[in-house]
Amino acid sequence: MGKKKAAILGSSGMIGQRFAHMLDAHPYFEVTAYCASDRSEGKRLADVWRLSDVELDRELGSKVVQATDPKALAKAGIEVVFSGLPSDVAGPVEDACADQGMAVFSNAASHRMEDDTPILVPEINPDHLKSISAQKKRRKSSGFIVTNANCSITGLAIGLKPLVDKFGFKDVNVATYQALSGAGYPGVPSLDILGNVLPFIKNEEDKMNSEGRKILGKYVDGRFVDSPVTIMASCARVNVRDGHLEAVFIRNKDMPSVSDLVKTLEGFRAKPQELKLPSAPDRPIIVTKEPNRPQPILDSDAGTPERAKGMAVTIGRIRIDKDCLRFYLLSHNTIRGGAGGSVLNAELAFKEGYI
Ligand SMILES: NC(=O)c1ccc[n+]([C@@H]2O[C@H](COP(=O)([O-])OP(=O)(O)OC[C@H]3O[C@@H](n4cnc5c(N)ncnc54)[C@H](OP(=O)(O)O)[C@@H]3O)[C@@H](O)[C@H]2O)c1
Repeated sequence: MGKKKAAILGSSGMIGQRFAHMLDAHPYFEVTAYCASDRSEGKRLADVWRLSDVELDRELGSKVVQATDPKALAKAGIEVVFSGLPSDVAGPVEDACADQGMAVFSNAASHRMEDDTPILVPEINPDHLKSISAQKKRRKSSGFIVTNANCSITGLAIGLKPLVDKFGFKDVNVATYQALSGAGYPGVPSLDILGNVLPFIKNEEDKMNSEGRKILGKYVDGRFVDSPVTIMASCARVNVRDGHLEAVFIRNKDMPSVSDLVKTLEGFRAKPQELKLPSAPDRPIIVTKEPNRPQPILDSDAGTPERAKGMAVTIGRIRIDKDCLRFYLLSHNTIRGGAGGSVLNAELAFKEGYI
């Protein structure tokens, strides 16, 4: 089967650049349009590149950014759209792409809570893709939108999935230490964050709960049913480049042993691993044994093979005190919690015949 023609929206942004890198020489998709706002129109990717951990390939760097025009994308035969647009812009633009028959994989919050739109995390809820048929009917189009979650809940939901399924945990508290790249570019003013911590990220705490419950929930009889898990979050922005660290507290009447927990987390495998999707990490959850891990600077890029770098979640410092389990969890916000999540969603949709 030939590769699907793809476009990246927001290609000059933090997520868009991760898309460009992850989709370069991808086995299923070929990016033929790099879009952004009028401000970036005509610039080359090399002129706007800000990912310090990725050496920009000369050919990729020479790609020219174009304005965002859904009709022109449809005319150019684009079948798949990867969106890294800000939420205040994404809504109508993504709708226009889906209505023109394109499959849209979005990072924006705009469509996440719609009744026929999945927040897909392929290790957790691959069956939520079924909601697409209702969406296509509503749109009267072969196009659709699949979203991925907020960057702070994606990693946590992956860590929770095997624990909730096996031990029935429901009562989750979390304190986050979120990286600067999570705020996009240029993000937080330097004078606000240098030598400082900002204990407020707009809408983040509510999103962690509402999106987490939808992701961990079921899709039955044509509707989403929330998981009974509750996630009480306190979110802070810290002076870290990439990688959201989270201190997780779970209360439950019956607590398994630490070794049972480790075995459950390390043994977790799901649909992306079964299907050997190109960006699926061999091990979705890595458990560190060292007392001072995970750390953003050492562990954000966890995941093998090479294409799945940054796609694994790292958990460490697992300890139990009576009815309370505590651990630290880390995931790469612009990869697993951003572009990589959307790429994996598109790989699953492609493999399952939705595209
Ligand atoms: N950063 C993360 O960790 C993360 C994780 C998960 C989800 N998200 C979500 O992903 C989306 C992108 O985030 P980001 O961090 O990549 O933001 P960003 O760095 O600010 O990039 C935004 C991109 O959107 C483009 N854009 C802005 N206004 C536009 C318009 N009117 N028309 C067309 N393009 C426009 C920008 O183009 P110009 O450069 O030309 O202005 C830029 O390419 C957001 O919805 C965010 O909430 C981010």
